[in-house]
Amino acid sequence: MESSPSSSPPSVPEGFVYAGPVSDFLPSSSQAATMADSDTNGQSVPGCQTADVTCGPELKTTSDGEEYLIKVIEIPQPAGRYPPQRRVGISYFRKKWYAFVNICPHQGSALSRGSMMDIEDMGIVWGAGIICSLHNWTFDALSGQSDSTRFVIDTYDIKEMDGHVFVSQAPRNGHVVGPRRDFGGREMN
Ligand code: FES
Repeated sequence: MESSPSSSPPSVPEGFVYAGPVSDFLPSSSQAATMADSDTNGQSVPGCQTADVTCGPELKTTSDGEEYLIKVIEIPQPAGRYPPQRRVGISYFRKKWYAFVNICPHQGSALSRGSMMDIEDMGIVWGAGIICSLHNWTFDALSGQSDSTRFVIDTYDIKEMDGHVFVSQAPRNGHVVGPRRDFGGREMN
């Protein structure tokens, strides 16, 4: 992964939208602390707890000390779709990129308030998941499948080019069958 972007983003791959420079998604602790208290205009947002404020990502740490962020961006939807934008959480976790709709299908909590986790079997890590902070529903961060319910969250492809990050406009897991629920496109809490 290149963390130093070229001065301007390369042209956007077809079917993708620009998410930002790689550095926006990396756990530089000073950057995360600054962003956590600022809105997109750099105004102070004490605590930055409300779901309708675009907060910077909170620095998170796994039990074995790996630091990561889950940064939320809005990606435009094709004309005529409602809602016109989808809120997507992007995380660079264990040296791999993940992107998923930021709304838990249970009661609409922001998944960015949750945590990334290793998915393992017999002591072997074979994937990554996202745990909702409200009632601990867990989703595979690539397939979007829940480990305990039939619900599925949309997940997205990521491309990293010349130090910049792009996210697919359409979900990567449209073939995965299961109910989806996005509460009108806004996190509920
Ligand atoms: S709102 Fe996510 S598990 Fe309940």
